[in-house]
Amino acid sequence: MGIELPIEWREVAQEILKDPGKVIFLGEADTGKTSLCLQLANLALQEGLRVGVFDLDIGQSHIGPPATIGIGPLENPIEDIGEINPFARYFVGALSPGSEPLRMIQGVERLLFHRPDLPSFDLLLIDTSGYVHGPQALSLKWKKFCVIQPDHYIFLERQVELEGLKRLSEREKGRKHRLQVPVEIRRKSPDARRSYRMEAWRRTFQHASTLQIPKNSSQLTMNRGTLVGLMGPGDSFLDLGLIEETKGEEVAVYTPYPRAGGIEEIILGRTNEPATALGWTSTMVK
Ligand SMILES: Nc1ncnc2c1ncn2[C@@H]1O[C@H](COP(=O)(O)OP(=O)(O)OP(=O)(O)O)[C@@H](O)[C@H]1O
Ligand SMILES: [Mg+2]
Repeated sequence: MGIELPIEWREVAQEILKDPGKVIFLGEADTGKTSLCLQLANLALQEGLRVGVFDLDIGQSHIGPPATIGIGPLENPIEDIGEINPFARYFVGALSPGSEPLRMIQGVERLLFHRPDLPSFDLLLIDTSGYVHGPQALSLKWKKFCVIQPDHYIFLERQVELEGLKRLSEREKGRKHRLQVPVEIRRKSPDARRSYRMEAWRRTFQHASTLQIPKNSSQLTMNRGTLVGLMGPGDSFLDLGLIEETKGEEVAVYTPYPRAGGIEEIILGRTNEPATALGWTSTMVK
């Protein structure tokens, strides 16, 4: 099933299966993070472990739509991480983690530590984005290390591009594994990444309808087509939405969420890409 893993990768996979826990996958774009995560998930399931996957990639999301992070259990062998049903999701609201670092960390905390109903996992595989360069990226990854406290760090490296990240990880407990990225790995073009998201947006909104939701005072201007997060009690994420129009004290939101009851807050996101995917025109509304 899937690609053939290099021997070195298989050895690390075996080490992790003997001593599971929380495993974080780190590397630039197109280094095989998601593929290794998938293979390890299937291997661990075969061994009878309770496996969960936590998808922190908000640009190329696999569990749940883009702009959200999602966590879910592996119930059967899978061929794609996207087959995992999200047990819980959280709205980050951006397509690049650097634009919403606080919401990203808040989401990681909420999903890992404030969901008493979260199944317990022997092995939790944490997939991340390729945002690994520059002070902001390093600071965000370091915060994730502190919050998550991984038992294993997997660095997928072509040369020495993860030095900064590796140095930061040395401050933390957890075993560090460095893996060489194979030269034959295929790189996804920016166009391919965008069309992956466009497809994801269309799927997300395919059964959407319009809800009228009372506007809360903090929302000053809302542009038609802006992505929003509909939040319920206790900062729980209910679903995504798109601002359709605002009228007086109400806002019309196009959303797959079935009812207005229980929606306590609308959080504005930082993209209108889903509106483009749905073919909306970019008329501005107040
Ligand atoms: N060990 C490998 N050998 C050959 N090809 C691989 C290997 N691992 C992954 N690939 C291929 O390389 C491409 C990128 O892999 P993958 O999507 O797992 O990387 P990623 O680091 O998760 O990328 P992203 O930045 O999009 O999150 C995919 O087409 C995958 O099939
Ligand atoms: Mg990936």
